[in-house]
Amino acid sequence: MTAAPPHVVRVCVVGSGGREHALAAVLGRTADVVVTPGNPGMAGTTPEGHTITVTAEPPEAIEADLYVIGPEAPLVDGLADRLRAAGRRVFGPGADGARIEGSKAFMKELLAEAGVPTARFGSFDEVGPALDFLRSLPGPWVVKTDGLAAGKGVLVTDSLAEAEADVAAKLSGSSFGDAGRTVVVEEGLIGEECSLLVLCDGTRLAPLAPARDFKRVGDGDTGPNTGGMGSYSPLAEVDDALVDRLVDEAVAPLLPVLAARGIDYRGVLYAGLMLTDSGPKVLEFNVRFGDPETQVVLPRYDGDLTALLAEVADGRLTTRPRFVDDAAVCVVAAAPGYPEVPRTGDPIDGLDAVDDPAVRIFHAGTRMDGGRLVTAGGRVLGITALAPTVAEARRRAYAATERISWPGMVHRTDIAERAAGGAAPTHREETVG
Ligand code: AMP
Ligand code: GLY
Repeated sequence: MTAAPPHVVRVCVVGSGGREHALAAVLGRTADVVVTPGNPGMAGTTPEGHTITVTAEPPEAIEADLYVIGPEAPLVDGLADRLRAAGRRVFGPGADGARIEGSKAFMKELLAEAGVPTARFGSFDEVGPALDFLRSLPGPWVVKTDGLAAGKGVLVTDSLAEAEADVAAKLSGSSFGDAGRTVVVEEGLIGEECSLLVLCDGTRLAPLAPARDFKRVGDGDTGPNTGGMGSYSPLAEVDDALVDRLVDEAVAPLLPVLAARGIDYRGVLYAGLMLTDSGPKVLEFNVRFGDPETQVVLPRYDGDLTALLAEVADGRLTTRPRFVDDAAVCVVAAAPGYPEVPRTGDPIDGLDAVDDPAVRIFHAGTRMDGGRLVTAGGRVLGITALAPTVAEARRRAYAATERISWPGMVHRTDIAERAAGGAAPTHREETVG
């Protein structure tokens, strides 16, 4: 028998957003956590007595038993490879696996090879052929940048003219720089979306609880795409049997395709799925935890997340993750101007006025300025509540959101509204007219 792998007492989380705050909080139930570069909302002592510290030191300079890399950019850049080469235990794919998210064209190639259902698509670096293909599709139309654009490089539209103009703008480099030098043109899929985060230790898969996020900036799914304006979990229409089917049809077929390329994928495969009339189809794969999905999925985790992610890092994933029955709803509060040009530097008020023990406030774009907490990014806070029903979690998340403010603060008012049975958030209960 081989010796048991060393017990994790200290975890290093890489990143500074709401996802990393949620990771730190839940890892901090069972281990001390150090976050780099982190944000001012993270530091402290967890209810279980573990410390969460924030440092500007690079991950390579931090001693930890497990490294959890949050965002896609350092993964694409090979941080997991560099840490592994130095003998560290890492949750997160190497640069080879991270290309799944780093290049949509590569992801589509893998899906085609694996036989995973996805939207019809073509990838182009010249305007003429891109427009020809676009015009051959029935609509709605989807135009994506090939490279990373933080979830914002996607246009979904019912207007062919708008799609045509977007192809030209992206390919000229004027809208997304080099990330847009290759565009993916796709048929628009219609249905309900589901974010399924699936742990992968190289050979085995284990799904986390399904979640839904709200990508458009405005109520009623209007306005441009963002990184995500809110989320909830679980989804009533995605039960355990459907989760298993989604894993079998959409994720498992990738394993042999990755193996054939010599990719030892240890981390999370995030399947963005559309549940269409003709069955589930993959919109995208990401190589990291979804944000804000993580802010509703991980607080519901009913187990030792540190041990679970260590199993993944070690290639010995045997735990089937379990989740509490309580629902979680997250409302993202964003800076004015998000997603285009968020204004930052505004003082944040009201955090102390939130006293509901069911609410967790995850910081994303915040920083300290002369002893004052100010906005420092597009998405500023994720306000998450856990309660026995989606309706109750939603009511509490919105009640907390109403207490927080800064000049121009923006949030959607319809996060999880349909799942909650259509109940309006408290502040919208006035009648108009
Ligand atoms: P992506 O960056 O590929 O994840 O796309 C971001 C979001 O755009 C998705 O979560 C969907 O809301 C939307 N989207 C992407 N591709 C499609 C598609 N083929 N049909 C409909 N919506 C899409
Ligand atoms: N919530 C979407 C994402 O993390 O990409």
